Amino acid sequence: MIRLSALVTIAITVSLVSCSFDCNNPGYSCRQGKCHYFGVCECPNQFVGVDCSIPRANVTTGAACSVTCHNNGICYNGNMCACTADYTGELCHHQTTGARCTFDAVVYEAYRPTGFEGETYLKQSRSCKLLETHSDVPGMRKFERKIFHADTSECAPQKVLDLPNPGDVTYEADLISSYKYNSWSLRDTVDNVKCQSKQTLLGISKDAPDSLFPIKMSARDGSSSNVQATTQNAPIALLFAPQNIPDVKGALVDYLEVYSINSTSKAMKSVVLVDNGWTNCAPLLADIFLYSYEAEFIQSLVAEGKTYLASDFNFTYRYIDDVLSINNPKFADYLSSIYPSELEVEETTETNYSASYLDIMLSYNTHGHLNTSLYDKRDDFNFSITSFPFLSSIIPSSPAYGVFISQLIRYARASTKYSDFVLRARRLSDKLLSQGYVCDRLTSSLRKFYGRYSELVIHYDVPLSRMMGDILS
Ligand SMILES: *[C@@H]1O[C@H](CO)[C@@H](O)[C@H](O)[C@H]1NC(C)=O
Ligand SMILES: *[C@@H]1O[C@H](CO)[C@@H](O)[C@H](O)[C@H]1NC(C)=O
Ligand SMILES: *[C@@H]1O[C@H](CO)[C@@H](O)[C@H](O)[C@H]1NC(C)=O
Ligand SMILES: *[C@@H]1O[C@H](CO)[C@@H](O)[C@H](O)[C@H]1NC(C)=O
Ligand SMILES: *[C@@H]1O[C@H](CO)[C@@H](O)[C@H](O)[C@H]1NC(C)=O
Ligand SMILES: *[C@@H]1O[C@H](CO)[C@@H](O)[C@H](O)[C@H]1NC(C)=O
Repeated sequence: MIRLSALVTIAITVSLVSCSFDCNNPGYSCRQGKCHYFGVCECPNQFVGVDCSIPRANVTTGAACSVTCHNNGICYNGNMCACTADYTGELCHHQTTGARCTFDAVVYEAYRPTGFEGETYLKQSRSCKLLETHSDVPGMRKFERKIFHADTSECAPQKVLDLPNPGDVTYEADLISSYKYNSWSLRDTVDNVKCQSKQTLLGISKDAPDSLFPIKMSARDGSSSNVQATTQNAPIALLFAPQNIPDVKGALVDYLEVYSINSTSKAMKSVVLVDNGWTNCAPLLADIFLYSYEAEFIQSLVAEGKTYLASDFNFTYRYIDDVLSINNPKFADYLSSIYPSELEVEETTETNYSASYLDIMLSYNTHGHLNTSLYDKRDDFNFSITSFPFLSSIIPSSPAYGVFISQLIRYARASTKYSDFVLRARRLSDKLLSQGYVCDRLTSSLRKFYGRYSELVIHYDVPLSRMMGDILS
């Protein structure tokens, strides 16, 4: 066994001060109005935008605008964004000049207009130039330079330690855009850019079995919202040395789950190491993982011409890790051919005639009728459960009564038999009455339920008056 704990760098990008827009310089201009000596456009009253290109009449606000323009961009023509000088991109989500911290590097980025004539470099040396790269913003060229933390050249990033918090590092630089012409009206511009690298202790320091390998990780490149999902069969140690993992180099890890395999017992266990509050993808992962085995099994039966066996699985269902198979007498025999041996399969069938699946109890009678009722494992607890709102609390009363209706719907859908439905509904109404609900309003909720969801209760063949007596007397 080994003890694991690891430090991982999480990167965030913070504000910048920009002034690369100068209407006197090549590539920049004012579409209307005048270019002021200081480099900004002075728009006539009926135009707006950095370069005064948007007629004020075209500006759209509120519901008339179908997109969200970030960073103070102005919405116009209903679905377009006119960005401030500091931002670019369709929705103004890219910094015009910025720095982005990744695991092991700082990436400097600059978007410049097509007509831009000049070069952008780190202030410390003209040799630390940003190089043109593929641009993801139409009409803009993109320049980029990635400098690794370990760089010791003159381009090495300048860092301020322990800012803003102990263990964090803030990287800061001045980016200069200089122009070829030395005319009096052309001026170099300076953008001060910053990003932070945060040290975060991963939430693991528990005993881990000797073989632990990642099955799933999703990572985000610091700048884009692209999620990369990877499945790697590499030892976990590699994961914590970013330079060894090409796929996640310079990425923000949102989610990481590993499977540990006990090499003696072959037991497999999954451990979630990082979950930054994004979507928990464990259920999705289980689906993909298990489906791959199930599909392979069925396809192989079909390929061998055993479609009659495959059709036995017509009423076999799985919800994440719960499987239900109906009318498939040999199901148990197949389990070991379907799922890998490392998975533990636990039989939860209660008797030959009944089984619970999720919150449904299924039972057969001797005539082969399948009936369902609600199954709630909390019924077996030997203590009472505090649930449902108390009317004395501050929640408004109509949603509280809505809870009664929604539970009746659930009970009716799950219960074949009227007696099961009544048992549940009665238990709930007693509980609600003890929590301050008023009988008259429960009665009118029940009436509403009976009227609106008649298709759920019609097979009970019970009039409303009797149902009321059974549940609320
Ligand atoms: C402003 O709106 C008019 C009329 O819809 C349109 O013809 C024009 O192209 C728009 N201007 C811009 C800059 O989109
Ligand atoms: C691995 O399985 C064996 C046998 O079931 C057990 O004795 C051992 O404690 C397990 N090891 C770990 C690390 O769980
Ligand atoms: C599977 O069940 C459906 C009804 O749910 C039926 O229409 C279909 O023919 C069955 N398929 C096989 C192969 O038995
Ligand atoms: C369930 O069915 C199996 C096979 O038909 C039989 O061997 C077993 O005794 C049954 N169990 C019960 C509790 O009836
Ligand atoms: C199933 O429900 C039907 C009618 O709803 C009932 O007659 C039958 O006895 C029930 N069977 C079992 C096993 O509860
Ligand atoms: C409930 O069950 C637990 C464990 O089975 C037991 O320790 C406890 O005494 C029980 N409580 C009551 C009130 O019966």
